[in-house]
Amino acid sequence: MRQARVTRRYRFCAAHRLHTDYLSPKENLATFGKCNNPNGHGHNYVVLVTVKSAVSAASGGGLDLGRLDQIVGEQVVARFDHHDLNQDPEFADCTTTGENLVLLIWGLLVKHLPAGQLEKVGLIETRDNYFEYAGSASPVPTLREA
Ligand code: NI
Repeated sequence: MRQARVTRRYRFCAAHRLHTDYLSPKENLATFGKCNNPNGHGHNYVVLVTVKSAVSAASGGGLDLGRLDQIVGEQVVARFDHHDLNQDPEFADCTTTGENLVLLIWGLLVKHLPAGQLEKVGLIETRDNYFEYAGSASPVPTLREA
């Protein structure tokens, strides 16, 4: 069976503040700059979800887009849209960086999709910042060990 890759785009808006209790206020400011602003700030995040799709002779593509939309909608968009990322339990003791967020999104999606289907998760945070994670041979990382 031949396979193609399909990337679907999703969006959510969320607030965050880059800050960690492991650093002093001065160190936080030095590390994160204006992203450490106590009042936080927002982003219009774009999530690019790439999955494998079996190409069948009959249909031309085997991906159930409706199912994918449902999973991403429930697991990612509903969870984060118009929320403060710093309040999410997964970020209780780690920083809401794009790297951590893209790892978290991967972990939320991979367990709801058929094994091996998820290929890559991309996260656009700002005009100039793009993060991505494409899995690894080891088990899905948690934010704490990542
Ligand atoms: Ni930010």
